[in-house]
Amino acid sequence: MESRYNPAKNVFIDSIDIDDYIKLDSSLHAYDQLLHSIEKPLKMILVFGRPGTGKSILLNHLYQKQKYQKDIHYFETPMTNEKEFYQKLFKVITGEELPPHTQVNFSTLVEYCRTLRGKRDIIILLDEAQMYSKEMMERIRLLSDTRSIKFVVSLHKTENEDLIAKEHFQSRIWEVVELKNGNRSDIQNYIHKKLLKKNLFEIANVIQKSHIRLICKLTKGNYRETNKLLFTIFELYEYYDRNDPSKINHNRFSNKIIEMAALKLGYLHV
Ligand SMILES: Nc1ncnc2c1ncn2[C@@H]1O[C@H](COP(=O)(O)OP(=O)(O)O)[C@@H](O)[C@H]1O
Ligand SMILES: [Mg+2]
Repeated sequence: MESRYNPAKNVFIDSIDIDDYIKLDSSLHAYDQLLHSIEKPLKMILVFGRPGTGKSILLNHLYQKQKYQKDIHYFETPMTNEKEFYQKLFKVITGEELPPHTQVNFSTLVEYCRTLRGKRDIIILLDEAQMYSKEMMERIRLLSDTRSIKFVVSLHKTENEDLIAKEHFQSRIWEVVELKNGNRSDIQNYIHKKLLKKNLFEIANVIQKSHIRLICKLTKGNYRETNKLLFTIFELYEYYDRNDPSKINHNRFSNKIIEMAALKLGYLHV
């Protein structure tokens, strides 16, 4: 028989499932801010935050919510292949597929965008923009200068990339939406809502404030790290449930197992 902890484990597989968007205090604020920003006559908007703070899911949520009202397009993690990017851009701007074996003539594309000014308000959501080359970013800037395309640029904030953000965008980005790790109440909501969505009420109920406190201490409130930790916790539960059920109590969540998972992930050292 399948362990009851198996579905709980699967809840925390790190993925962007748009139906699983959760309204957390922090992300709700960022969403409103972003929605407000894209209404303004800006050329670029920067979505900034450390890995695992919810940038991709925020962009996806915005796209899903606005796709029927706005000329909005989501560009996921860039391929190493720039050609694909230009093909996609061409399609978005002209509505036509780029004929096979043709290359996008960039200056013609920019010219064309100028003619769209005031007629279309295209919004392009660029995820993982730290992966675009300087040259591509420069071209993106040229397109945004035509005022017919607005770019929402999502960037990882890390020590090095802080620099990129500063140098490259400083004078060009007019608004910044910053995403942060969650606080305790965000993380509590996140964990509970994810479990409740899968009807795992009993498991959600045994995870209490003290456990959340420990989880936050270990993950610093980062959503991706929280996923990893919870996945590993339920992996351990599943293991004991199958092989040594006397070691676990279904009615009390175990700090010891949280710590074992943290050790396994290298958050704690013996
Ligand atoms: N508001 C939210 N609702 C549901 N899941 C979220 C939310 N914020 C973050 N997550 C989850 O946390 C993980 C990391 O989020 P992600 O958007 O991939 O972060 P980033 O792009 O900043 O690295 C993903 O599994 C994502 O589904
Ligand atoms: Mg991402």
